[in-house]
Amino acid sequence: AGPAATGWSGERAVVRLSEAQADAQTRLPTGSSELDRVLGGGLVPGSVVLLGGDPGIGKSTLLLQTLGRLAGTSPVLYASGEESAAQVAARARRLQLGETDLPLLIDARLEAILDAAADCRVLVVDSIQTLFSEAVASAAGSVAQVRECAARLTRLAKTQGISVLIAGHVTKEGALAGPRVLEHIVDTVLYFEGDSASQYRIVRAYKNRFGSVNELGVFAMTEGGLKEVTNPSAIFLTRHARPVAGSVTMATLEGTRPLLLEVQALVESSPLGNPRRLTLGMDGSRLAMLLAVLHRHAGVALFDQDVYVNLVGGLKVTETATDLPVLLAALSSLRNRPLPVDLLSFGEVGLAGEVRPVRGGQERLGEAAKLGFRTAVVGKLNAPRKPIPGLRVLALEHLDGLGEVFAQLVE
Ligand code: TYD
Ligand code: MG
Repeated sequence: AGPAATGWSGERAVVRLSEAQADAQTRLPTGSSELDRVLGGGLVPGSVVLLGGDPGIGKSTLLLQTLGRLAGTSPVLYASGEESAAQVAARARRLQLGETDLPLLIDARLEAILDAAADCRVLVVDSIQTLFSEAVASAAGSVAQVRECAARLTRLAKTQGISVLIAGHVTKEGALAGPRVLEHIVDTVLYFEGDSASQYRIVRAYKNRFGSVNELGVFAMTEGGLKEVTNPSAIFLTRHARPVAGSVTMATLEGTRPLLLEVQALVESSPLGNPRRLTLGMDGSRLAMLLAVLHRHAGVALFDQDVYVNLVGGLKVTETATDLPVLLAALSSLRNRPLPVDLLSFGEVGLAGEVRPVRGGQERLGEAAKLGFRTAVVGKLNAPRKPIPGLRVLALEHLDGLGEVFAQLVE
């Protein structure tokens, strides 16, 4: 059938692109530069943001802090089905929000929250797992409840132009049904990551209809709540007093800022027929692949060795720039020869043994030079056109040159 048969009635639904865009620009700054960064420049009216993460990582803290800052200028509501008013008040005192006139609703009934939120501009719901709607028979936290509650909150956001922020617990494995089933309902999905033992907390955008993904917000958990870390390039970096075998610093570019972190490898003779390949912070099957490439193209055999790789600091790196530093660290551990402490590396390694460029080479090298790194091992196409003062760049085209570069570094 042609257009006439579909019943489409012409211009009625057409909006001007210029007007639509102008509308999308009206964002509400959260008062936190790091949170605004992951959101893509502040809260979009009528949008729904899911903030996921392990219990205890800081979801309630971040949401309460944010709302506390907004309360002075916008009508807001903090709805908690999880904690008592006294518990929220105790947290608010820690965050020095004691004097803030913040409307608080302690209720787990969705309908009560929808009623109370009708006139506000920003609504926080903590947490989606504790909410229940009368429209659904199953228990709070069940998939059906979580879906229903999220869908109705989304409708509220869209019809009233309210920004809704929803906290959701997820375990490391993503085991809890809740947040994962919501990912496609909401506009933006932010996840807290990082080691809860460390002071630093990363908020990463996994999905964002209103901004770019993989942007990171970096915070430090302090006595008085989450503080922005606006210049995070070196916070994950452990500086060893003297060189240690199996350690290499890499520059990763998650989002728009380069971050430097330590890649550690431990290579140990294995008693097992099927030796271990274990990774923390990077994809485990990628390590197995890299070791096969190392064997074929650099002649380094690790089939009788257990190989462990750790990206220090709890950051998960999904980009392929880890390849080259991981192989350098593994070689250093295997040979028990430390690499210089002021060495930096990044680069992707292909199955044919070629070292491929990664985006933002110049930014990564520039950041490293600024932080006192003196030597960099990178792919040939990432070598800077203009020399960077104080930085010697060793450019590798193929893994067959790895042995030579390694020898040069440890001599
Ligand atoms: P919380 O925000 O309640 O985590 P979630 O809502 O994700 O479960 O609390 C995170 C942890 O942070 C908690 O163990 C206490 C700690 N904390 C601080 O160190 N400083 C603070 O100012 C606050 C409010 C909490
Ligand atoms: Mg909480």
